[in-house]
Amino acid sequence: MMLRMRPIIIAANWKMNTGPSDAAELALEIARRTREPEVVRVICPPFVCLAPVAAALAGEGVGIGAQNVHHELAGAFTGEVSAAMLAGLADWVILGHSERRRDAGETDALIGAKLRRAIASGLRPILCVGEQLADRDAGRAEDVVAAQVEGALAGIDTAVLAGSGLVVAYEPVWAIGTGRTARGADAAAMAERIRSTIDAAGHAGIAADVPVLYGGSVTSGSIAEFLAEPTIDGALVGGASLKPDEMAAIVGRAGLTARARRDAGPRDGPSAT
Ligand code: 13P
Repeated sequence: MMLRMRPIIIAANWKMNTGPSDAAELALEIARRTREPEVVRVICPPFVCLAPVAAALAGEGVGIGAQNVHHELAGAFTGEVSAAMLAGLADWVILGHSERRRDAGETDALIGAKLRRAIASGLRPILCVGEQLADRDAGRAEDVVAAQVEGALAGIDTAVLAGSGLVVAYEPVWAIGTGRTARGADAAAMAERIRSTIDAAGHAGIAADVPVLYGGSVTSGSIAEFLAEPTIDGALVGGASLKPDEMAAIVGRAGLTARARRDAGPRDGPSAT
């Protein structure tokens, strides 16, 4: 038996916002206003902003993530970005965001290929999953999300997954950009289902260690409801992540949670290693 704790992570998904001339300044302001040593902070700007943001955040202790990566190493893939191109610019990558599933037709199989490529390249993956409103209304939200997790993880070796630092972001599609959030209790139940799915997929040793974030209209006003759930380990923030005041409040709240969980002590559980 080994005792362990999952980190609290606040990740900013800037989506298709900011440009090379303004991203660095915004990233630095957010970094300076969110100095919470017990919170893992990640900023994911557009590809063309990675270099200026990486330069601006040098020494700030903020992780930098890409919003996507191609599954092949190189070749005739017009407009795409490979994992090798991200070396030195990003250490995290968002995969399978619902906007890419919707707009770029990304399937679970393709997302799985991207996941394997990201892990092989040393990029820490944030795998996004989430149901449509019709799925929730029909009572099949958990089954849909479980199938997305299973599909993305298919064929991945447990030892490889264990070393990947995999993070899963539960983002109900109907809550993204709508101002409407999931209920904390529903998100918490989904986090448990995500871990039990990882467990059932043959990765029992690592499931309890995978951080699960909530995403979907998170703001300074809603973050507390999610962090109050012990199965939820942070947030993937969209619109509010472009606002330094919002990020300061969200990360500040996450710092309180991180300290409270630390003081409460680690969970019991079988060792991952
Ligand atoms: P919003 O916070 O703007 O709803 O976006 C959430 C999201 O999609 C983060 O990846």
